[in-house]
Formats: sequence, C-alpha cells, structure tokens
Amino acid sequence: MRSHYCGVVDAAFIDQEVTLCGWVHKRRDHGGVIFIDLRDREGLIQIVVDPDTAEIFAIAEQVRNEFVLQITGRVRNRPEGTTNEDLRTGQIEVLAKQLVVLNAADTPPFQLDDDDVQEETRMRYRYIDLRRPQMQQRMRLRSAVTRKLREALDSDGFLDVETPILTRATPEGARDYLVPSRTHQGEFFALPQSPQLFKQILMMSGIDRYYQFARCFRDEDLRADRQPEFSQLDIEMSFVEEADIMKATERMMRELFSSELDVQLPDPFPTMTYAEAMLRYGSDKPDLRIDLELVELSEQLANVDFKVFSGPAADPKCRVTALRVPDGCKLTRKEIDNYTDFVGRYGAKGLAYIKCNDVATGRDGLQSPIVKNLDDAALAGILERTGAQSGDLIFFGAGPSTVVSDSLGALRVRLGQDLGLVADGWQPLWVIDFPMFEWDEGGKRWSALHHPFTAPSTNDLDALRNDPGNALSRAYDMVLNGTELGGGSIRIHDATMQQQVLQLLGIGEEEAQDKFGFLLNALRYGAPPHGGIAFGIDRLVMLMAGASTLRDVMAFPKTQSASCLLTDAPGTVSDRQLKELALRPRKAPAATDA
Ligand code: AMO
Ligand code: AMP
Repeated sequence: MRSHYCGVVDAAFIDQEVTLCGWVHKRRDHGGVIFIDLRDREGLIQIVVDPDTAEIFAIAEQVRNEFVLQITGRVRNRPEGTTNEDLRTGQIEVLAKQLVVLNAADTPPFQLDDDDVQEETRMRYRYIDLRRPQMQQRMRLRSAVTRKLREALDSDGFLDVETPILTRATPEGARDYLVPSRTHQGEFFALPQSPQLFKQILMMSGIDRYYQFARCFRDEDLRADRQPEFSQLDIEMSFVEEADIMKATERMMRELFSSELDVQLPDPFPTMTYAEAMLRYGSDKPDLRIDLELVELSEQLANVDFKVFSGPAADPKCRVTALRVPDGCKLTRKEIDNYTDFVGRYGAKGLAYIKCNDVATGRDGLQSPIVKNLDDAALAGILERTGAQSGDLIFFGAGPSTVVSDSLGALRVRLGQDLGLVADGWQPLWVIDFPMFEWDEGGKRWSALHHPFTAPSTNDLDALRNDPGNALSRAYDMVLNGTELGGGSIRIHDATMQQQVLQLLGIGEEEAQDKFGFLLNALRYGAPPHGGIAFGIDRLVMLMAGASTLRDVMAFPKTQSASCLLTDAPGTVSDRQLKELALRPRKAPAATDA
C-alpha cells in the first residue's frame, strides 16, 4: 500500500513520487492550502493539499486528527524559511495527488504531544499512547535490547529452552498466581515466579548452557520497578563458578551498552561485599552516582549521656550512624521535619541532626537539639569522623542495624535526588557475599535471602547449622545506578546439602518431597555443579530508556493494583466455568467492579 515510511523521506527524494500511509498528526488550513502532518512509526512528513486538486481538497477538509490516510504525491523542497532542521523530512514536503481515507477516527481522548495526560487515560487507550514517538522509541529500544542479548548468548553457545507456564509453585518469596485445574478438580497450577527449578533440571539434563526470555509472575506489592508479570533474561551454566557467570554476563552488558547507547561500562565491574554495601550505603543495591556515605559512630558515642545514642552504640545488633550532607545548613526546619517523616516510614524513631554553622568554634558553632546531650569529646569525634565542614549538616540514625541501614540508606538516595547530588553516567556494581539466611521475625524462623537452592560459601554442614546467621552464600547481584538489575547464585548440587538447607529453613522432609521432590530426585542422578543468574529485562530497558517506571517500557503493563485498564482484566467468569472447575466464590465480586 505504500512506497516508503513517512519519516524516511528526505531531500534525496526531490521530484520523486511516493505513496505514504499513516495517521494525521495535525491538520492546518492556511489560506486555502491544507497542510497535513502525516505520522507513522518512522516519523512525520508534511503533506500539502492544494485547492487546485479540488476533489482531494474536499476530502482533506474532512480529515481530523488520527484519521488513517494513504497519500500519493510528488516530493518537493519546502519554501525558504519554512524548513525544519530537527526533522529528517524537514527540508521537503509532499504535494498530494491522491488522497484516500483508509479509516476515520473518533476524536482522540488526548493529543499525542500533550505530555500531561493522566496515566489512567494513557493505559485505557494504550493503542493511542503507544503511537507517541517516545513510546515508539522505547518499544524499539526494548526490541533492540532483547535482540542484542539473544545474539550475544547464541554466539556464546547458549541454548534457548522454553519452560512451562502452568507449573508448580517456585519459591522466590512472593505470592503465587494460581490457575485452577479442570481435569484435577480442587488442584491448582501455579504460574512460575521464575524458571529456577526447571533451569536447574536442564543442567542436570546436560543442556550445559541455557537461556530464556522468561515471563515471570509474582503477586506482590507493586512499585515503580515491580510488575506482577515481568520478563527475565534467565541464564544457567554447568561446570562454572561465580567468576565465570559474572564475567560472561558483564561482558554481555558492556557490549549491549556500547552498541545501543554508545556508553562504555567499566571492565571489570567493581565488586563490593554485602557487608560493606550495608555499612557504607545502607543498601544492598547502592547507587554509586551519589557521593554520600554513612559513617559509623558507635565507638565515639558509646559513653555519652544521651541514651538514644549510647544504648544502640553498645548493642551489637544495633548501629549508630551519621550521614553528612554537604551544604546542608540551608535545609529548613520544615524540610528536616519532612525527612524525619520519611525515615519514619522505614521504622526510624527519629532523625537527630547537627547543623555545623562554624566547625572552627566548637560547640558554639553547632546548632542542634542534641548537642546539649553530647560532651566535647563526642562532638569532636563526630566532626572528625564525618569530616564535616562549615555549612554542612549531619543526620543521625540510631537503633537496630536493619532499621538504621534501611532508613539512612533511603535518606541518602532521597537527599541525593533532592539536592542534585546524583552524578551523570552509569555505575554498575556486583554485590557479593550475601548472607545465606535472614531471620524472619514474624514466622520465627530462618528464610533464604536469595532462594533455597543457593549454595552456601561453606560445605561444612555443622558450621552452617551452628551459626546460620553468619553463613554467607554464593549469590551475587548486578546493580546499576541503584537498581538491582539481576541476581543469581551458584546452586547446591549435592542432595544431602540441599536437604540440610531445606531443613534449616524449616521445610521438613515430607514437605520438601511434596514441593520439590522432582529436584531432590534429580540431584541424586548425576547433577553437575551449576549456577546462573536472571536479569530483569523491564528494569534494564527502563534504565536504558531513562524512564522512571516499568510501565513506560512495557507495551501492556498492569496498574498499581495489578489490573489491566485496556482489557479490564482481571474479570469475572461465568457460573458454568466455575462449575467446571468445581469452584464457588466465598464472596461475590463487587457489583461496581467494571
Ligand atoms: P530474582 O528474584 O532476584 O532472582 O529476580 C531476578 C531479577 O528479576 C527482576 N525482577 C522484577 N522485575 C520486575 N518486576 C518484578 N516484580 C520483579 N521481580 C524481580 C529484577 C531481579 O534482579 N531465579 C532467580 C535468579 C537466579 O537465581 O538465577 C530469581 O528469580 O531485576
Ligand atoms: P528525643 O530525646 O526523643 O526528643 O530526641 C531528640 C532528638 O533525637 C530528636 O531530634 C529526634 O528526632 C532524635 N532521635 C530520637 N530517636 C532517634 C533515633 N533512634 N535515631 C536518630 N535520631 C533519633
């Protein structure tokens, strides 16, 4: 139906006849001449309809935004003074000879170049939203990213293997999406939270190197960087150690960033232990673009009268930590109160601070509700350790280590954003030596920090059992600009070790057999040492596109409440379907549920 895309016709086409198809981006009447900006995937082109061609002029008068047209005409130079350097087609226009309305369009609910459209409207009319050049650009980037990654893995000898969507629960820590079985009434499939168990089974099947762009499903609380349905680039390799996987995948990322963004990522990526990341940044995914660090003060403050500090300073499960904010004296009382509320969301009981108006004059130069509680030696220690300069502000967090890390870690990022302290550029990082287990206070038991198939750093079973809290795992995360891009580990390939770890997690033999018996069995029939990683593709594209939510790089994302506004999913089903599945809702769906 067309000879060319609209967006590619340039001065080289002068005097040629072209046939173009696309959407009416804008129509302008100019003293008898009608201009139509026609748009397709590749861009805009200016069409001119002259009143001399009366028949098509009459049609052109009727067209409205988003009508779908087919236009044939001759390419000519735009008159001097009307060219547009920003467009590839900006030198030329097409004088229409034929014009066919392929389809009319209702008045669109929003203008494509309106940047201020409610997201709900964009989602409901996603087909219009996706026509916007920025969204087209993002979809293209996404396609280029998966193509590049696929090429890299193919040439490295990885095999693309598909794993089931209708499966059993895979423990990645979220709630499962369940699908009732009709043929086994009362039983359910779970949608995979990841292909974890299948990819391990593939290693035991001799596949050696596996990858898959795998759709994963997790029913968890949604945030800007989480979707209930998302895509992983899932990878697994046999006969490897951590360094093999880290080297292979960071090279892949370097190639990707170089070819798609012309960005040269470091070689190798820096590596940091989990312990160091928590200590210095209060996060296991530190954003290294922000040049702010936490400073430990437990030693300096162990003996002060101020119980808020001295109590936690003496407790090994607690920390007393400072965060120096350069030039922070300019923060107002109101802003400090807001930051206090902010850290409160992470469980912090308060946010003590000192404004260092003049560090040369000692106590007198410090403005703060807490200096009266601190002796001169403590104040001097604080100033020395934090390296505070006149004009700086120091925030303090004191309490359980997890609360202080979470709250000050988040405050660090927030301040970085608020004060413009986020440097440009890309800062990738491997975080390694994660704890094997974390104590689940609610459930009163240990849970796996990564997942239960991650190998511990030690093969000493007694050591593991006697001190699970200090055991490290062979897990690693790839972090980019403060976002966890991917995570993986070397797996347990020894049946006894796997049993023991499951036991430590409070999963008895019977439950283990019931849930992952197939894996435990497979481990006994010649399982090679293996390990792998999975990258969040949506997150990767989000970062590369400079978008701030995953919704902007997925064609059909779900809302904050895990629904699809385009299709109105989830929806109710007929009584007949429920009957076939032997299901009866305990509660009728709300009548207003549109
Ligand atoms: P993990 O649970 O860390 O590991 O997931 C791997 C990566 O997937 C991305 N991701 C998400 N992206 C969007 N929305 C979500 N809800 C979401 N959850 C996770 C993140 C994350 O780093 N089976 C293991 C991998 C392995 O051990 O090989 C796993 O799934 O970018
Ligand atoms: P209070 O003695 O409770 O009035 O607190 C004095 C100052 O210490 C206030 O600025 C509080 O915000 C701060 N503060 C209280 N508890 C903590 C804590 N756990 N960590 C950091 N600052 C705190």
